[in-house]
Amino acid sequence: MGSCIMRIIMFAVCAMWFLPDLVLAKHAGSTRHYKFDIKLQKVTRLCQSKNIVTVNGQFPGPRIIAREGDRVIIKVVNHVQNNITIHWHGIRQLRSGWADGPAYITQCPIQTGQSYLYNFTITGQRGTLFWHAHISWLRATVYGSLVILPKRGVPYPFPQPFKEVPIIFEETKKKKQKNAEMGSGFVRVMLFAFCAFWVLPELVFAKHAGTTRHYKFDIKLQTVTRLCQTKSIVTVNGQFPGPRIIAREGDRVIIKVVNHVQNNITIHWHGIRQLRSGWADGPAYITQCPIQTGQSYVYNFTITGQRGTLFWHAHISWLRATVYGSLVILPKRGVPYPFPQPFKEVPIIFGEWWKADIETMINQAMQTGGAPNVSDAYTMNGLPGPLYNCSAKDAFRLKVKPGKTYLLRLINAALNDELFFSIANHTVTVVEVDAVYVKPFKTNTLVITPGQTTNILLKTKSHSPNATFLMAARSYATGPAAFDNSTTAGILEYEHKSSVSNTKNRKPSVLKPALPMFNDTIFAMKFSKKLRSLASNKFPAKVPQTVNRRFFFTVGLGLIQCSRNQACPGPNNTMVAAAINNVSFVQPSTALLQAHFFGKSKGVYTTDFPANPPFKFNYTGTPPSNILVNSGTKVVVLPFNTRVELVLQDTSIIGAESHPLHLHGFNFYVVGQGFGNFDPKKDPANFNLVDPIERNTVGVPSGGWVAIRFHADNPGVWFMHCHLEVHTSWGLKMAWVVMDGKRPNQKLPPPPSDLPKC
Ligand code: C2O
Repeated sequence: MGSCIMRIIMFAVCAMWFLPDLVLAKHAGSTRHYKFDIKLQKVTRLCQSKNIVTVNGQFPGPRIIAREGDRVIIKVVNHVQNNITIHWHGIRQLRSGWADGPAYITQCPIQTGQSYLYNFTITGQRGTLFWHAHISWLRATVYGSLVILPKRGVPYPFPQPFKEVPIIFEETKKKKQKNAEMGSGFVRVMLFAFCAFWVLPELVFAKHAGTTRHYKFDIKLQTVTRLCQTKSIVTVNGQFPGPRIIAREGDRVIIKVVNHVQNNITIHWHGIRQLRSGWADGPAYITQCPIQTGQSYVYNFTITGQRGTLFWHAHISWLRATVYGSLVILPKRGVPYPFPQPFKEVPIIFGEWWKADIETMINQAMQTGGAPNVSDAYTMNGLPGPLYNCSAKDAFRLKVKPGKTYLLRLINAALNDELFFSIANHTVTVVEVDAVYVKPFKTNTLVITPGQTTNILLKTKSHSPNATFLMAARSYATGPAAFDNSTTAGILEYEHKSSVSNTKNRKPSVLKPALPMFNDTIFAMKFSKKLRSLASNKFPAKVPQTVNRRFFFTVGLGLIQCSRNQACPGPNNTMVAAAINNVSFVQPSTALLQAHFFGKSKGVYTTDFPANPPFKFNYTGTPPSNILVNSGTKVVVLPFNTRVELVLQDTSIIGAESHPLHLHGFNFYVVGQGFGNFDPKKDPANFNLVDPIERNTVGVPSGGWVAIRFHADNPGVWFMHCHLEVHTSWGLKMAWVVMDGKRPNQKLPPPPSDLPKC
C-alpha cells in the first residue's frame, strides 16, 4: 500500500516535474538571490577620503536586475555600528509590506550583527526603480539601482535600444558621514551634481558578465520504488534524479553541499572547465577530501566559455548511481543558439538502476575480487519505462505539439553502459555534444557513452499522428563481461485537439524504434566520425596545431594479485584490474591537489607515470602471457601551457572493449581514431586539425585507438579516467598535475577555508 502510493507520487512528481521545468523557468519568473553585507568602505571623492556605510563595499551599491514576475530575495546582514533598513523604492510590495523597509514604519531596524531577509515578488511593474537605506540619512551612501526588465520575450513598447545605461544622480558630502547623520551643526554640506561615468559600462557588464546563482544540496536518504521494489537511496534534497542546475555562460555558481548521510560524499560538475577553481572540481581524493557526515562544503565556480548541456554527479565510490542531475548552461542573455530557437527544451538523463543496495554490492565485489552485479534497469529521467515489469506507469512522457522543434538535452549518467538511443519514426539533428556546438547532422540513432551529453533537435510531425512513439535506449556493449541487456523507453506523445474525439476511442498504436545490435562497433565508429566542431568565427576550433609533449597510453584490463587474506576468483588468487600503461591507479588517502599545492606530495604520489607502455606488444592482437599489472599513485606533471597529444590505445587483454575516457579540467580535440594498433608513422598524417570534435569524454574504440590534443592552460590536478564506473573502481584512472604559470592569473588560488579534511 505504502509503496503503491509512493509510486503514484513519484510518477506524478516525475511526469509533471521534468517536462515543464525549463519552460517554467523561462516563462514564470525565477527567484533572484542577493546578499547585501552592510559594511564600511573607504572612498575618495573631491580629493578627500572617508569611511562610508555601503552594501558589499560598493558605492553606489550593487545593481539589482530582475524581470517582471520574478521573486527577489535579499539577505541584508548588518556589520556596521549603525542600525539599518533597506527600502525598495517604488516596488508595490503586494501583500509583502513586511519587506518594504522604512524604519519604525514597517519594521524595526536591523541592528549590528543582525540580518533580515527581504522577500518580494515584482508584479505588474517593469522599468527603472532604485533601493536605498531608509533610516536616518544613511541613504546618502547606501543606494543602488533596481532594473526590472520586461518578462522574457516581451518587447518594450518602443524600439529595442542598443544598450541600457543607468545613471544615478545624488549628492556627495565632504565631511564624515557620521556627522551628517547626527545632524551636527558644523557640517558643511557641499552640493555637487555627480554624474558617475563609471556606471556607464556597468549594465552592459551585467548583461555580459553573468550573475551568481546559489544552490543548496542537502545529501539525504530517500525511499524510492522502482521495478516493484522499494529501497532507501542517497539523494540530493530527496529528489531523484537530483535538482537541475540552470545557469548562463559567464555566471558564477555557488552550491553549498551539506552531508546528512552516513556515506562520505563529493560532487563533480562534469565537464565544467573549472578555470583556476580546481578546488571545486570534486573527485574524491583527487581535488578534495570527501565531505564527511554532518559536514558541508561550498563549491564555487564560474562558467567560462561554455554553453550547452552538462551534468553533475557524486564522485566517490558508486554513489553517482543515484546522486546526479542535469546542468544546463544557457548562452549569455541575448546570444542566440547557432541553430533555430527551439519551441521547448527538455533534458533527458539516462541512469542505471539496481534493486539491491549499490554501495554494499560494490564494496563486496572489491573485497572478493568478483565482478559487481550488472544493473536491473536503465532509466530515463529516473524512470525505467514500459518495457520493464511493474513499470508501465514509471515512464518518462514527452508530450509534444505537432510542427514544433524541441531541443532534447541527452545526458548519459549510467554507470557502466554506453547507450544507443533512438526515437521511433523520427529523425533528429545533432547540434551539440559535451557543451560544444557541432556541425549539425541528421541521424535516427545516437551513441552516447557515460559522461557524454548530446543535444538534439527533434522536429515533430506536422500533424498529430494516431500513434505514440517510444524513445528507447539500450546498451552498446563490447567487453568480455556480462552486461544489462534490457531497454529503457520513454513515450513521445502528440497533443490532440479535443475536437478529434474519435481518435480517443481507438487506442493509438505504440511504435518502437529499431536499435543496432548490442555490439555494433562499426555503427559506433561511424557515428563518432560524423561529429565535427562547428569551427565558425564565433565558435572556432582552437586545436593545438603544434605539440610540446606526446603520450601513448594503453587502456584496458589485466589481473592483479590479491592479498593473502582474500580469496579471489582469478588464477593464483588474482582479480580483474584495469590499468593505463600497466599502472592500476591506487586511490590515495589524502587529496592529490592538497598534497601538490602545499608541496607535500611525498608519500602521497609519485611523478613517474609512464609516457609510453612499459613494453610493446600487439595491443589488439593475441595478449601476452603475463597480464599482471602494477599498481601505484602516479601522475604526469605538465608545465603550464603545455600542448599535449595523447593517443589512447585499447588493448585486447581479457577482451577488447570501448572505454569512455573522461578528462577533468579541459576539453580536448579528437584529432584521429581508428581500429587496430595506432601507427605513429602513418596515422598522424590523417589527423584532423581543422574541425575535430571538442569534448570532455571520448570512447576509445573497442580494439582501436583515439588521438586527442589539449592545451594545459588550467593549473591544478586533473583526473582522467574511464567513465565506466567498474573500470574506475578497478584502477583505470590517473591524474595530470598542471603547474602554475608565471602570471598571477595563471596560478591556482589557495583552497577555500571550508575545504574538507581527510
Ligand atoms: Cu563524470 Cu571524473 O567524472
